Amino acid sequence: MTLVLGIESSCDETAAALVDGEGRIVAQRIASQDEAHAPYGGVVPEIAARAHAERLAPMIASVLADADTALTECDAIAATAGPGLIGGVMVGLVSAKALAMASDVPLIAINHLEGHALSPRLADRALEFPYALLLVSGGHCQILRVDGVGRYRRLATTIDDALGEAFDKTAKILGLSFPGGPAVERLAKGGDAQAVPLPRPMLKSREPHFSFAGLKSAVLRAHNSGQYEAADIAASFQRAAIDCLLDRLRVSFERMDAVPTLVVAGGVAANAAVRSALEGFAAERGMGFTAPPPALCTDNAAMIAWAGIERLALPDFTPSPLDLLARPRWPLDPEAEAVRGAGVKA
Ligand code: KG4
Ligand code: ZN
Repeated sequence: MTLVLGIESSCDETAAALVDGEGRIVAQRIASQDEAHAPYGGVVPEIAARAHAERLAPMIASVLADADTALTECDAIAATAGPGLIGGVMVGLVSAKALAMASDVPLIAINHLEGHALSPRLADRALEFPYALLLVSGGHCQILRVDGVGRYRRLATTIDDALGEAFDKTAKILGLSFPGGPAVERLAKGGDAQAVPLPRPMLKSREPHFSFAGLKSAVLRAHNSGQYEAADIAASFQRAAIDCLLDRLRVSFERMDAVPTLVVAGGVAANAAVRSALEGFAAERGMGFTAPPPALCTDNAAMIAWAGIERLALPDFTPSPLDLLARPRWPLDPEAEAVRGAGVKA
């Protein structure tokens, strides 16, 4: 049975996991750095890199010990090589290279976004290509058609903020704890989603792209006006964000050959309101819907190991060279055109 060690360190979760060819997570450990970054209300790259450097090596040893497995029993070491905060990515990638060299196990450099993109197939082994993917995380907000491993066509991206970022900024405005997404979701449960009039940026635009900067500014204005309860702002924000997701999916689907399944992945996919809205949207269109369990939506190493398993199975698989460099930017679809107005987040 194929066995792959996965390593993830591109943002603020340090994670290692062993996953087998059947998609069983044999062992995994994950350490969040929430407490270290909380005083700053966001991830501080230098603090993140140092924390990864301190934690990763003992964590990998623990995961192997948990599974009573030697590194030499692994078929490959899969490590996130980008995109992400470069210091953290380098810690994970250099660790993986050292282990690969010392144990003579092949290295597989994984695109973190591919980890998210394939995570639904780890969670649901019956999910087949092609599928439509809504990838919503702290750094990305994209709609892609996934035709196979390494075969991604991007239809939409954000021209400013990612959706997770908009959740985090809303949380900060409302004085909620870091990380913001789960805090906004909790508060929204007790709020009225109709109470605060907020914009739906890009609504009805013929281009399928996203924009969340205007929504965030409107949240700030609503908060500063002193007219609204925080819970109502949170609920109205979440509703506006969901309306944007559904509208942008509608426009993207006009540009895509029909696919049987809608899939959501990335940190924001952990949000129950987002999941149920997408499920309803897919059902209306006669599409299947799948979302990984929340723990596989936010950053983790099992999805990186799984992407390694999927890559190992490709007929033209070749291990990554040990002189491969970390990539702070690494689009899933290199052919996708740059979007007018988009910053560095594509
Ligand atoms: O995928 P992820 O763990 O890291 C990146 O690759 O960016 O996504 C993190 C993002 C953060 O912005 C976080 O606030 C958001 O996902 N998030 C959520 C929820 N859980 C995490 N957003 C909304 N609702 C949630 N329950
Ligand atoms: Zn991620």
